[in-house]
Amino acid sequence: MHEQVKDYYGKTLQSSDDLQSNACCTDTNMPAHLKAILAKIHPQVSSRYYGCGLIAPEALEGMHILDLGSGSGRDCYVLSALVGPKGSVTGVDMTPEQLSVAREYIDYHRQQFGFDQSNVAFFEGYIEKLDALPLGENQFDIIISNCVINLSPDKEAVLKQAHRLLKSGGEMYFSDVYSDRRVPTHLTNDAQLHGECLSGALYWNDFINLAKGCGFADPRLVEDRPLTIDNPEIESKLQGIRFFSATYRLFKINDLEPACEDYGQSVIYNGGLPYSKDAFLLDKHHIIKTGEVFPVCGNTYRMLSETRFKPFFQFNGNTVEHYGLFEGCGSALPFDTGRTGAETSTNSCC
Ligand SMILES: C[S@@+](CC[C@H](N)C(=O)[O-])C[C@H]1O[C@@H](n2cnc3c(N)ncnc32)[C@H](O)[C@@H]1O
Repeated sequence: MHEQVKDYYGKTLQSSDDLQSNACCTDTNMPAHLKAILAKIHPQVSSRYYGCGLIAPEALEGMHILDLGSGSGRDCYVLSALVGPKGSVTGVDMTPEQLSVAREYIDYHRQQFGFDQSNVAFFEGYIEKLDALPLGENQFDIIISNCVINLSPDKEAVLKQAHRLLKSGGEMYFSDVYSDRRVPTHLTNDAQLHGECLSGALYWNDFINLAKGCGFADPRLVEDRPLTIDNPEIESKLQGIRFFSATYRLFKINDLEPACEDYGQSVIYNGGLPYSKDAFLLDKHHIIKTGEVFPVCGNTYRMLSETRFKPFFQFNGNTVEHYGLFEGCGSALPFDTGRTGAETSTNSCC
């Protein structure tokens, strides 16, 4: 499986124009500060970008970030600018052709961002075997990945390795492709469907359970969109399975509870994050307006108070008194389907 994927990204595809579907494409909706950074990325790096989401969480200055499946390095270089000279970005990829493009422009981007020394490094390796690379346990504040884990033959190993490398209070923040049901093996074995980041996708509920089993007790969905595929030949092979691009954040926090429990706690966001003056988006169901008293479950409280977000919040309450399950905790298909109806949970807290 690894060799087939290496061939697809190293030889079959020369640029994003060669993609056969829109699975490995990112929506063009982009905040202004990111557009300005993207304008500084070398065109050859951008032309070999195959990501499916926007990987730029908040509060990045000084952070140490690992990118799983960094490809030609576009996300690494954008994050290099955002973490600044005191932070660092490490990319890992198994495809030599992609790595050589990424490495060729290290100094170009150092100059673009005005740094004395580059804060970016790339390693050749497998994301299932990160222990074979010189990366220390509990070393990273954030692990990102953009449209890669669907390609992995051992997704459990990837999540376990990521959990090991994250600091306590750190998070995995990543975009990937998910399906609305389990994908049959004959489709997973189809080299084109797999290479296009479709048939290796996890059924969303299997992903949630896998993440929990790897130590990420409360996965949070940040954003999602249905993939339209836009290729009749590929669509006909997919037998009506629906695919979604989704960004999840998985916090490494010990002993998060298996459900959202209500202790009557609340938080107030102080508006102090540079690109989030009016509101802070923790996930799709927690858009916390500046200055507003925002009721939260016990897990959300800890995601804000035991992470890099702590300085930006005021915290009210404790866990002495328990009031039951936090209202609206849902388990239906979490993605927006573009259809109306009861299947999409709009009021769940997570
Ligand atoms: C769809 S591309 C995305 C690349 C990059 N994240 C981007 O946004 O442009 C998938 C990348 O993941 C890499 N990849 C896939 N499976 C991998 C694995 N098991 N270990 C390391 N790299 C992997 C491929 O070599 C390829 O560069």
